Amino acid sequence: MEELKQYKTAVEKSNIVSKTDINGIITFVNEEFCKISGFAKEELIGKNHNIVRHPDVPKSNFELLWKTILRKETFKTTAKNRAKDGSTFYVNTTIFPILDKKGNILEFIAIRYDVTENVLLTEELTRKEEELKQLNATLENRVEKQTKQLLDLNRNLEMRVKEEVEKNREKDKMVFQQARLAAMGEMIGNIAHQWRQPLSELGIILFGIKKSFIQNDLSGIEKHYEHGKKVIDRMSQTIEDFRNFFNPEKHKDTFFIKDAINEVVSILAGSLIKAKIQVKIKASKTIKVFGYKNELSQAILNIINNAKDAFKDKNIEKRVISVSAKKEKKYVYIHIHDNAGGIDEAIIDKIFEPYFTTKHASLGTGLGLYIVKMIVENSMNGVVCVKNKSAGADFIIKIPIKGEKNGTE
Ligand SMILES: Nc1ncnc2c1ncn2[C@@H]1O[C@H](COP(=O)(O)OP(=O)(O)OP(=O)(O)O)[C@@H](O)[C@H]1O
Ligand SMILES: [Mg+2]
Repeated sequence: MEELKQYKTAVEKSNIVSKTDINGIITFVNEEFCKISGFAKEELIGKNHNIVRHPDVPKSNFELLWKTILRKETFKTTAKNRAKDGSTFYVNTTIFPILDKKGNILEFIAIRYDVTENVLLTEELTRKEEELKQLNATLENRVEKQTKQLLDLNRNLEMRVKEEVEKNREKDKMVFQQARLAAMGEMIGNIAHQWRQPLSELGIILFGIKKSFIQNDLSGIEKHYEHGKKVIDRMSQTIEDFRNFFNPEKHKDTFFIKDAINEVVSILAGSLIKAKIQVKIKASKTIKVFGYKNELSQAILNIINNAKDAFKDKNIEKRVISVSAKKEKKYVYIHIHDNAGGIDEAIIDKIFEPYFTTKHASLGTGLGLYIVKMIVENSMNGVVCVKNKSAGADFIIKIPIKGEKNGTE
């Protein structure tokens, strides 16, 4: 009996204990129950146990509780209760029915312990988890949005790049068109120079014919006539040369460098003589390259024309342009070297840019060397550069020899 008492004390000291009669009316509460519920013993005894019921707990919970204990079974639950001051506490509860010898229910005893802190912590944890989930979701959403924006931006950028490339292509076309027109104008000037001499020759021939006619010298007339025919042939050959030069070639082909150089010099012959320029050519007859011959001639012509302008500009007495071509390993090096005083170091890096010119607007478009660069790089797969050497500028065109691309093989 003494032992039983001690057990009772041990249970009561360590747990929250209450007892009710079969109708749920409180018949006993221990100190711990009063402490956690905030009610005094007198306020509890004789009252229905639902005095600590929390309004949040659904009715079905109590129905299950009563059903269980009335079946004389033990009921276990974590209950949400309300204290006297309205605060919430959670208890892990076990309710046992106490039976008499016959097995009838005498009363119910409920033993609980406080799990408020645990439950609150778990609730807090769940809340945090939920928040985290929410955050994750919004983050995903934002990442998705940003990705979409980036994609849009990318697409826009691509489109703009395409537009710009297209615009540039148009611009290049215009640049070439413009340069072509300028070159044609120059060519007409060159033809005029080339024709000056044969025209005056024809004048003299006509005068000779007239004289022979007056003197009734038939063989003289015949001689002048033959001479005149030759001069006219030469003049039409000049036109033919210019026409060939301006006919754009359809296909790339292998050609001798020396031919391209000779072509330029023969086309410019008239104006070079007039400008008192001596051109020295030193090129092996056997060097061949692959590309458009007329384009390379055009490039050399542009460079020679610049030298011609520089001579005039600097008032140079003895004017010499030397054009040389030599083979070195897998490349041909074409040097076009003048003695016109060279290029100012302050502008030398800019001269290949389109529209860069130091000449008056009516004299230069600034496209000459840009065209040279285009031709050498795009059509000939080569490079072009310039250096000041001895008394003038030295333009160097480096072209890979047929079948050897940029010397990489
Ligand atoms: N041999 C040279 N000696 C001195 N300066 C030169 C020589 N070649 C080119 N330059 C300089 O480089 C500039 C650019 O030459 P580029 O041929 O591109 O244009 P441009 O001759 O001025 O005009 P365009 O050739 O279009 O009529 C020239 O204005 C000139 O100042
Ligand atoms: Mg020029």
